[in-house]
Amino acid sequence: MSNLFVKQAKQYAGARPSYPPQLFQFIASKTPSHNLAWDVATGSGQAAKSLAELYQNVIATDASEKQLEFATKLPNVRYQHTPSTMSIAEVEQKVAPQGTIDLVTIAQGLHWFDLPNFYAQVNWVLKKPHGVIAAWSYNLPRLSDAVDSVLDQFYGSDTKPYWDQARRLVENNYRTIDFPFEPVDGADHTGPFEFVTETVMDFDDFLTYIKSWSVYQTAKEKGVELLGEDVVEKFKLAWGEDGQKVAKYPIYLRIGKVSDA
Ligand SMILES: C[S@@+](CC[C@H](N)C(=O)[O-])C[C@H]1O[C@@H](n2cnc3c(N)ncnc32)[C@H](O)[C@@H]1O
Repeated sequence: MSNLFVKQAKQYAGARPSYPPQLFQFIASKTPSHNLAWDVATGSGQAAKSLAELYQNVIATDASEKQLEFATKLPNVRYQHTPSTMSIAEVEQKVAPQGTIDLVTIAQGLHWFDLPNFYAQVNWVLKKPHGVIAAWSYNLPRLSDAVDSVLDQFYGSDTKPYWDQARRLVENNYRTIDFPFEPVDGADHTGPFEFVTETVMDFDDFLTYIKSWSVYQTAKEKGVELLGEDVVEKFKLAWGEDGQKVAKYPIYLRIGKVSDA
């Protein structure tokens, strides 16, 4: 599915939200050391750049080379293209040796993975004890009653036939995603824990954000333009006179640690 993000990699880099400092502080407070983090499905590095402020080194991987091209380059972040399914030998070669990583993060990506295979890699590469995995997702942003209502309608009907099954996990706020890890210290469950991120958008940014959805690309490949003139007109009317609006995205975090055994 990483192909779905290839054609709109540029839109993706410009239109997707970054994540709030509180999220990273909470996550980083759960790993006793801060040497090495692995941001999987990094896209254009939305989470990697914040991790780079809290961890000495970050390895940021993605199955799409095109996405990585648009990532912010930083001295302590190594971007690495990987196949979408890796063997343990490939993890060792492209990511890190066994038991050396403090934190694995997956921002808005876990729902696309072959989970049993991925979790085997996570268990192999995380430090034992105390290695932490943190995965979060966000769903539709909230902008204003009028825009939200058109957006919900658009999402619930126009886009529905083209979403992948995996999207259900995002709609459920990761409540139902398989997450076989132990609660981190100070918690009695693995989430979802709720955070919120905000970004300021003008109308063009908003349309670019919709174009960055994988479903937009899927529909396009089937000959369907989801943002036809009539749809754009409805959004424009709902947007009104405001030049810019604040978009608030609720974020849902699952976090856990490997078992000590
Ligand atoms: C929705 S984007 C999330 C990007 C970024 N982490 C963010 O927070 O915006 C999903 C990313 O997952 C990548 N991806 C999908 N399946 C993958 C896999 N099996 N292994 C690695 N990356 C994958 C895609 O190329 C895409 O960049």
